[in-house]
Parts: sequence; C-alpha cells; structure tokens
Amino acid sequence: MMLPQKPEPRVFSGMQPTGNLHLGNYLGAMVRWVEMQQSHECIFCVVDMHAITVWQDPEELANSIRAVTAAYIASGLDPKRSILFNQSQVHEHAELAWVFNCVARLGWLNRMTQFKEKAGKDRENASVGLYAYPSLMAADILAYRATHVPVGEDQKQHLELSRDIAQKFNNDFAASIRKAGFEDGTFFPLPEPVIIGPATRVMSLRDGTKKMSKSDASDMSRINMTDDADTIAKKIQKAKTDPLPLPADEEELAKRPEADNLIGIYAALENTAKADVLKEFGGAQFSVFKKALAELAVSRIGPVNAEMKRLLSDPAEIDRILADGSRRARAIAGPIMDKVKDIVGFLRS
Ligand code: TYM
Repeated sequence: MMLPQKPEPRVFSGMQPTGNLHLGNYLGAMVRWVEMQQSHECIFCVVDMHAITVWQDPEELANSIRAVTAAYIASGLDPKRSILFNQSQVHEHAELAWVFNCVARLGWLNRMTQFKEKAGKDRENASVGLYAYPSLMAADILAYRATHVPVGEDQKQHLELSRDIAQKFNNDFAASIRKAGFEDGTFFPLPEPVIIGPATRVMSLRDGTKKMSKSDASDMSRINMTDDADTIAKKIQKAKTDPLPLPADEEELAKRPEADNLIGIYAALENTAKADVLKEFGGAQFSVFKKALAELAVSRIGPVNAEMKRLLSDPAEIDRILADGSRRARAIAGPIMDKVKDIVGFLRS
C-alpha cells in the first residue's frame, strides 16, 4: 500500500481500562471525541497495554476493557464510522514503542511529572513499563501518523514528548526517510494536542485544587459514569464549596477553585461557556446552583449509564466490535510500521 507523502488529518486518542471512568474522562476527552468524529477520520483505543504498567487483576482487566468500550459507544462513538479497538490486538503499538524507546532520551523521561506522581516515593519498585509509558503513548499516535489528539490537560506533557520523539526520529533518519520515498525528509507528523472546552481539567469534588481521578481514595471526590441518579445528586450536594454566593464574572471565579470547577462542569454538560453559566447563576446561592447542576448531570449521564449497562449485557458483541476495530486499525498501522522498518534498516520478508 502506498502511504501519502504528507500524513492526512487523522485523530487518535485513548483511555486506560483501569477502574471506573469518571466525569473528568467524559467531559475532558470523550465529549470532544464525539464531536470530532463528525468531521475527522478517528481512531479510539482502549489502552490495555498502558493499564498493566501497574498491577491489574487479569479478570478485572478483561471486564474493564469491555466496560470502557461500552462507555465509548454509549457516549456516542460510532464503531462503524470510527475505529474502536483495544491496543494489545494491534502488535504495531509494541513494535513501534520499542523503536521509540531507542529514540527517546532518559533525560526526557526523567522530566515526566506523571511518572513521579505515580511512582511516588518507592521509585525503585515502579515497573520499567511505567517509566517507558510515554514512548508507548507516542507509538499509539504515530503508528497511524495521527495529526490531532484530543485529551484532557493532564496529558499535555506526554504529548509534548510525543512531538519530541516524532521530531527526533525525523531528524535522525532524514536521509533514510528520503530514500524511502518521502521527499521532504519527514515521515511522522508532529501530533497536535486538542485541549479545548470548559472542562479540560475537572477537579475533585472534595478539593478544588486536586484533579478528579480514578485513584482518589474517596469515591465522593468523583462522579463515576456508573453512578445512579441518587448517587450523582448526593455527590453534587456534598461537593465542597466556599461560603460566598456565586461570582458574576470570570475573573472572580478564577480565584475560587471549587466554584470554578462546578461552573466548568455545568458549562461542559450544557455545551456552553462558563461566562454564560455565570450570566444565569452569578449572585445565586450554591444550594440553588447545585440543584440545577445535579439535575443537568443526571439528565446527561443517566442515559449513557443505561446504554452502557445494555451493551455490557452482551459481552460477545463488544468483543466482536473490538475484533473488527483491531482489524481495521492493523490495516492502517501495518504499512506504516513496514516503512518504519525500512527507514531504520531492518530487513523484512
Ligand atoms: P487516562 O486513561 O488517564 O484518561 C483518559 C482521558 O481523560 C482525560 N482526563 C481528564 N480530563 C479532564 N479532567 C480530569 N480530571 C481528567 N482525568 C482524565 C485525560 O486527559 C485523557 O484524555 N495516557 C493516557 C491514555 C493514552 C493516550 C494515548 C491518550 C494512551 N495512549 C495516545 C491519547 C493518545 C491516559 O492515561 O489517559
């Protein structure tokens, strides 16, 4: 298959199948994916190989892969229009990640804040996979020569590293890339992060300075995509706030992390801007606003939740969707990986 000289616009993104997906994943990433699906060729991955960088119970992992796939579809991703698959079914990810391990520099990986956070104090005991995780992430994207990557704010540093890896590969192998038929000497695009909207960093409901996360010990800190209506309402009602009424302008809002977070969540759920929400609720008491927010959240998440349950009642169908997506993903990644092998100087039959 002939590859285009210049990579065509293509979207790639992924989520880890570890624990419950939460409102941060939904508003920070998934909502944007559903939107981009209308205008772009899209590939969405369940990154199971990333998940095992920390210990996963095998049975739970298999179930989580299906649950995340169900969440993708229930949120509005169309498995016919876009490619939905799980990473481990497409071996090109692992192959390209190895090449990138040899392109990326130790110093670059040493700067990754997420590794420092996840490894914590017991760094010596972290897996090598956790350390090399950003090279695999670069491989995920570049195995498809993808150009746009919609993610939440917390993935920005990893994406900068992906760009650095793409750039160094292009530089190191420029002559060989030309020989392989790419006249301007560039093979990989520098993938662009797409970090937009009012909820690129959804914060904990218990602490407006901490990110909403799967790994937070308190379940009250996050809204899970599997929470029922009562639980969602209770969590919003109990969300930490300050004692003042809601501010009327964004400058004031920026100084009040908890208010800012809840207004951002409302704006994202309503598909509008924070300024518009402030027009409606500026000066109101939190109790009034929280009631409206709970209703909105339940009305948006409830149907996704119900559809997820329905899809999960037929695991064989989800497995079939993933198999089909993986086949289509391999059809794109295979020829790209073949070229990478030629460029690097590997012999192949
Ligand atoms: P993961 O699984 O941690 O998160 C999936 C997506 O959800 C976003 N996100 C948030 N957005 C807003 N507020 C939050 N509190 C919040 N928490 C999570 C993340 O930014 C992400 O977009 N390394 C990635 C997965 C990955 C990937 C890739 C992404 C692997 N390969 C290639 C893009 C391209 C991760 O762990 O995301």
